[in-house]
Amino acid sequence: MGRLDGKVALISGGARGQGAAEARLFVEEGCRVLVGDVLDAEGAALAEELGRDARYAHLDVTSEHDWTEAAALAGRELGALNVFVSNAGISPPAEPITNTSLDDYLRVVGVNQVGTFLGMKAVIPPMIDGEGGSIVVISSAGGIEGTWGLSAYVSTKFAVRGLTKVAALELARQGIRVNSVHPGPIDTAMLEPEAWHGLDVRAGMAAAMPLGRLGEPREIAELVLFLASDASSYCTGAEFVADGGHLAGPFAPHLHGRG
Ligand SMILES: NC(=O)c1ccc[n+]([C@@H]2O[C@H](COP(=O)([O-])OP(=O)(O)OC[C@H]3O[C@@H](n4cnc5c(N)ncnc54)[C@H](O)[C@@H]3O)[C@@H](O)[C@H]2O)c1
Repeated sequence: MGRLDGKVALISGGARGQGAAEARLFVEEGCRVLVGDVLDAEGAALAEELGRDARYAHLDVTSEHDWTEAAALAGRELGALNVFVSNAGISPPAEPITNTSLDDYLRVVGVNQVGTFLGMKAVIPPMIDGEGGSIVVISSAGGIEGTWGLSAYVSTKFAVRGLTKVAALELARQGIRVNSVHPGPIDTAMLEPEAWHGLDVRAGMAAAMPLGRLGEPREIAELVLFLASDASSYCTGAEFVADGGHLAGPFAPHLHGRG
């Protein structure tokens, strides 16, 4: 028995990184998965790797039209949608607010925040028409605390944490649970030097984590799987953190002459 037997999921931003790890794990657990992304070559290759239980759709999360098409494709080719993972996201390199242009700020809002809102608008009606289900919103530890230089990113990750709670309240009596996931630093393209003006932030971030390392995409996928599955049937409107202990407090044994 798979933990998602018979379910149908749509994962935005699923062509690589955490979304791809979720797609692989979901299919292993008996789910049929529609991967949506703007990285068409990577997304199509992943769907081919996953076989008959997966499809790929070009889905720019800022486009209402793309969302309508993707939700319709899922229903037509895979069956009634009952899981939505709002995972697509972008994170520009750190810059103070005064160096952040309005265009750059709004670009992040468009993908991370508006993309999650549009995704919910597209999937909620078919989920209500079907058997209900689970929506998992990928926020960040940066949706719970601030990070220097990430004004747009942090603002959007706080915003989707709030949106999660509103959706959970609106959908609770319609059989749809909605929860947010808050990963700490995860070893994906988002942390590679190309995404940070050539700076390699990974070793410094790993050292600052109480667990002393970055997270792996599969470790987030396991949490998302729990929330997508019926094992989490009494969880809604809640925040689920997987951050190597980061939000527990500053990791500073050296201040006490240790470590
Ligand atoms: N990596 C981290 O340290 C970290 C930490 C906390 C939260 N997150 C969040 O996890 C999620 C997944 O990120 P990741 O770490 O796998 O990074 P990633 O860059 O590998 O994955 C992000 C995916 O989103 C897709 N995407 C970007 N813009 C899109 C658009 N307009 N429409 C559709 N898809 C789009 C990308 O093509 C990519 O496949 C993001 O929401 C990110 O903010 C990441």
